[in-house]
Amino acid sequence: MSETFNIGLGNHDEQNLRKKADSDFVSFWDDQAKNLSWFSPWTSALDWKPPFAKWFIGGTINASFNALDVHQDSKADKPAIIWEGENGESRTVTYSDMFVKVQKFANVLKSLGVQKGDRVTIYLPMVPELPISMLACARIGAVHTVIFSGFSAASIRDRVNDSKSKIIITADGGYRRGKIVNLKETVDDAIAGIDSVEHVVVLERAKNKIHMSDKDKLWDELMSSASVLCDAEKLDSSHPLFILYTSGTTGKPKGVLHGTGGYLTHLHSTFKWAFDIQDSDVFFCTADIGWVTGHSYVVYAPLLHGATQVMYEGAPDFPDESRMWDILQKNKVTIFYTTPTALRMFMKFGDDIPNSFDLSSLRLLGSVGEPINPEVWKWYFMTIGKERCPIIDTWWQTETGGMLISPLPGLETIPLKPGSGTRPIPGVSLDVVDENGDTVPSDIKGYLVVNNPWPGMLLTLWGENEKYQKVYWSKYENRYYSGDYARRDDDGYIWLLGRADDVLKVAGHRIGTAELESCIVSHDNVAESAVCGIPDDVKGEVIIAFVVLRNGLKFDSDVLQKEITGKIRSDIGSIATPKQIYFVPRLPKTRSGKIMRRILKTIGTGDVIGDTSTLEDGAAVTDVKKVFDETQKSIRKKSA
Ligand code: WT7
Repeated sequence: MSETFNIGLGNHDEQNLRKKADSDFVSFWDDQAKNLSWFSPWTSALDWKPPFAKWFIGGTINASFNALDVHQDSKADKPAIIWEGENGESRTVTYSDMFVKVQKFANVLKSLGVQKGDRVTIYLPMVPELPISMLACARIGAVHTVIFSGFSAASIRDRVNDSKSKIIITADGGYRRGKIVNLKETVDDAIAGIDSVEHVVVLERAKNKIHMSDKDKLWDELMSSASVLCDAEKLDSSHPLFILYTSGTTGKPKGVLHGTGGYLTHLHSTFKWAFDIQDSDVFFCTADIGWVTGHSYVVYAPLLHGATQVMYEGAPDFPDESRMWDILQKNKVTIFYTTPTALRMFMKFGDDIPNSFDLSSLRLLGSVGEPINPEVWKWYFMTIGKERCPIIDTWWQTETGGMLISPLPGLETIPLKPGSGTRPIPGVSLDVVDENGDTVPSDIKGYLVVNNPWPGMLLTLWGENEKYQKVYWSKYENRYYSGDYARRDDDGYIWLLGRADDVLKVAGHRIGTAELESCIVSHDNVAESAVCGIPDDVKGEVIIAFVVLRNGLKFDSDVLQKEITGKIRSDIGSIATPKQIYFVPRLPKTRSGKIMRRILKTIGTGDVIGDTSTLEDGAAVTDVKKVFDETQKSIRKKSA
């Protein structure tokens, strides 16, 4: 029996939404979509030709119109974004400021030749110009593709080539732990030799020295001559809103493509149900907009609701460990949405820090991105929420667009169990199944699948319809395969049990093992490599890599470790850096030649190595174990 916490906000499901949703999910979502402003109504709510779903056929809509225009009468002077710079600066951007800036920037994009359907790459730090750029794209029907500002030049290059963006929006620099990261230089490296990029728009954020070429244009100069009015384009409900690249099981990131009408409906509904958003709330989601949480619950959902939110530019522990609580206290934040990794870090810093701040404005707390350990959940509940605030543990993915599993304090009160996201949202039907697709008995681990299409569902993978079908819809007929393990308890609560595929979650970030391995193997001295995740107190999981060098190579492991790490940083980004690289003579493989990651992981965690009878060469395990033990010993020696 797991512990339960009964805490609700007293809003019961007066409209019986669950009942409606269960009886007919399509007409249920049809009703929800009416909460948005449409230029013309749809004729049918869903066109489902597996694996492709189109929502609100015939309806025309615009995301930027729903985020901004609709609030101009009632909320023009209301702050949309209260921005906190890492260096202590702050800025308040109202709904009318946003409206003016987005229209102007939309005109800038048009003047640079951007047309409906064109892709625009955005590589910006967490500044208001990032949502402004996204909404400007949405306004004219251009497809934004935001790249997290921690990604490397090579990652940008791959994504720009794949999406064929003609325009990149970036900044001179961004602040991270007091240092300026030269983003413009990274973009220059990325696009050297790519002819398809016609213009780079550069926002001056850090005023660091940058090189400007003919292609480059300054944000402020473009804005100062742009005209103020730009009507929102009337777009088909399924018009693509954005591409967001995410790691999967193959060597190359996938371009997850999201549409407009369905996606916005999903966000509007979940923001209301899960966060119980009220006009007086001050919402704060710590996610970087470079990830899907930022797209959905920093940019679109809060703006659709005309909410006020805090946006923070920098590191959560800069200039010191109290920064987050300082921001919460200063802005009287009422709803706080963050990650288990951040919470584990805050918890390590000690209770005295949050306890020395007045956090009494808080009324609801959220978690996202990775499983939250029950003890961390309880700490969040007691120390931060002072047992007053419900915690919503929200499960979803880049592909799902918005939450699929979460407690919904804005809709209903149910007992919370630390570590469980409770139940699926109304209108979404999930199951936990075995290899054959049969529902597993309660408390048995299985694969989490979604039984029906849902409005926030991805349209496809950019340019890869077949892969889309294969990755998500081939394991089970007409059901979405999430790639996650889960179990359901006797009360019907769902417990997420981590990835079932070769995807790691490091500090909540998704890293594909294949992508990382192919990067490591591209080092001249490397013959083979296998990476795996091992548990970590703060990051949830960290990466370790096992590397086999080319025949007969003599090497200095410190130098090679540095070189390989450097390669990973420049090909992918520092988030993918392994904690340790082990140089081993060979890797344990099955008779059919498959690397046994399970065994490597067992060695990495120091657990007992089980059955090795299926191995091609059992001695490989002994070899790897020997290197592992010796490396650990020398690490201990060095740190002693
Ligand atoms: C993967 C998706 C959710 C948006 C940000 C991450 C894991 C996500 C939870 C949760 C346990 C979670 C899953 C999922 N995950 N939320 N509440 N409890 N695991 O989006 O980068 O696409 O990652 O994150 O493994 O598949 P993403």
